[in-house]
This record gives sequence, C-alpha cells and structure tokens, in this order.
Amino acid sequence: MPLIMPTIKEILQRFDFPVYLAPMEGVTDRAYRRICKQYGADILISEFVSSEALSREVEKSFRKMNFEEDERPFGVQIFGGNESALVTAAQYAAAQHPDFIDINWGCPVKKIVSKGAGAAMLQDIPKMVSLTAAVVKAVDLPVTVKTRLGWESANKPIVEVAERLQDVGIQAITIHGRTRAQQYGGEADWTLIGEVKNNPRMVIPVVGNGDIDSAARAVAYKERYGVDAVMIGRAAIGNPWIFQQIKALRMGKTYHEPTYAERAQLVSRHLRENEKEKGERVAVLEMRTMYSGYFRGIPHFKSKKIRLMSAMTVAECEEILFE
Ligand SMILES: Cc1cc2nc3c(=O)[nH]c(=O)nc-3n(C[C@H](O)[C@H](O)[C@H](O)COP(=O)(O)O)c2cc1C
Repeated sequence: MPLIMPTIKEILQRFDFPVYLAPMEGVTDRAYRRICKQYGADILISEFVSSEALSREVEKSFRKMNFEEDERPFGVQIFGGNESALVTAAQYAAAQHPDFIDINWGCPVKKIVSKGAGAAMLQDIPKMVSLTAAVVKAVDLPVTVKTRLGWESANKPIVEVAERLQDVGIQAITIHGRTRAQQYGGEADWTLIGEVKNNPRMVIPVVGNGDIDSAARAVAYKERYGVDAVMIGRAAIGNPWIFQQIKALRMGKTYHEPTYAERAQLVSRHLRENEKEKGERVAVLEMRTMYSGYFRGIPHFKSKKIRLMSAMTVAECEEILFE
C-alpha cells in the first residue's frame, strides 16, 4: 500500500469520464464487480456491510469486504446508526486496505431505517454529521458518503447536508436524486444534485446517481448537471455492457447490444466464478435475480427463464442457456 493515499479527487482525475458501479446488496459481490470492471466500470464499492455485524465479528460480514487488487479503486461501504459500532466497522474495513470507505446514509429499507441507520439519519442531520466526523477521525483512508436528497419531499436539505459533511472531512459525496419517502418510485430529481455541485462552497467531488439507464443518459446527465462522476445501479444489473457502451459513446464509436450468445457466455462465467466463491447452490440461487437483467430485450426468453428458475446445478443452467 502506498504510504500516502490518493484523495478521491486524485482517483477520479485518472479517468476521462469516471463511472461508478453502485453498491447493491445481493448483486455487486466480488464476481459481479470484477465482470463490471472488465467491461469498463471505473470505481467499485462493496455491498453494504452492517457495522453492528462487523463489531460482533460476524464472519459473513467480513467476507463482504474482500476484494481483489484488480478491483481498485475500491471502496468498502458500511452502514449503522451507532457511533462505536461504526467506528469499529470503519477500522475493520480500513484493515483490508481499500482505497476508501463509504458510509451509507441513504438506504430506505424499513429494516435498516428502523434501527436508525441508512436514510434514517436524514431526520437527524446533526447526528449524521457527528457520526461521519467520528468515522473520518478513526481511519487514515478517504471517507465518502452516499445519501439521498432528504427524508421526504417537504424537506430536501441536501445542499446544506453536503456542505456540513464536507466540513467534517469527507472526500466525496454521492447523491441519489430521491427522498427516502420516494424509495425507488417517481423520477430521480437531478436538479438538486446539480445545485450541490454548483454551490461555490463545495470543493469535493459530487457523484450523481439515479435512473441512469443508458450510455446516452450517462453522458447527457454528466454534462447537464456538471457532476464529477456518475453512478449506475439498476441498469447495470445483468448489464455490464452499459459501461462499455459509455466508453464507446465517449470515443464517438458505435456499439451494438450484446447478442444472446454473448449474454449466455457471460452468465455461464458469472455462475462459475460465484460457484468457486460461494458454492454451487448459492451461485445458482443468486443468479435467479439476474436473468431478467442479463436477457432484457431478448425475445421469447420467458420459457427458458422459467426453466432456469428451477435449475439446481450450474450444469443444468448451462444446458438450458446453450441448447
Ligand atoms: C438490489 C439493490 C440493492 C441495493 N443495495 C444498496 C447498498 O447495499 N448500498 C447502497 O448504498 N445502495 C444500495 N442500493 C441503491 C443503489 O446503490 C442506487 O443508489 C439506486 O439503485 C439508484 O440508482 P439507479 O437508479 O442507477 O438504480 C441498492 C439498490 C438495489 C436495486
């Protein structure tokens, strides 16, 4: 590890058009992150890791922080609502030597919010700021935050929140252009993301997130709102080609949608990599959430999908995919 860690700003400067793969629980495990990296995702983040579980030394949570050197720049994302657990988690995460630690202040899921974690903190900004400050102080790595516009439509304090988080030392902020109340409904509002970026007091990079569903939209939103980087979530599920397409578009090259054969090949590889990592049963079961993404737009895929959804071995899946 270098003695002086590059800042997030320096990391982003390495890329002509920096694109993050969004952290997604149940999706962006090591195998899938590495596939996305190979297809052009620049910055990767782990699935979220529970600080409570880490401070209780739950083995599975430690595994979620594992990454390969070829994934860099890589961040571990932690969530929680308790200062000592968050600090302990950040220290455990730092011991894995990622390039940065990301704090999740945006997860809208009830199970998380009811414990005062994720987006819950959008109801208590002073606490969000003080917990963030405690994490920044506890580690020698860059700390970043991922959050939403606010708790609900009547209260979207993100411009002020971003300033306050910057003031306690975070090195970048990712903003998903929705409130907690919206969950994933409605459209992401990028105008407020643009306001954060255009606030003359903001000097740290601002990453825009929400509803980027094509290479064209990634390029258009980055230009329109002036963000330092974009982050892609749902549109990258089973669709690592989106990263390649962004690069092609930036270079003025044409690109084609992947053929059925290309998709089937990649699913097979993904299955085999996850089999090595998690065992056959888990690999096969987890892939079931990815088929719709991998084969989006493929005509008459439904009957194959029904059979894939009940296949129990990698060999069975491959037989269906390649028949
Ligand atoms: C299945 C799934 C799992 C997610 N897990 C996480 C997570 O672990 N950490 C996080 O910060 N956001 C998580 N998110 C939110 C995404 O990172 C992203 O902010 C959101 O999907 C909006 O971006 P998009 O419109 O490009 O999908 C998750 C989203 C989905 C759909």
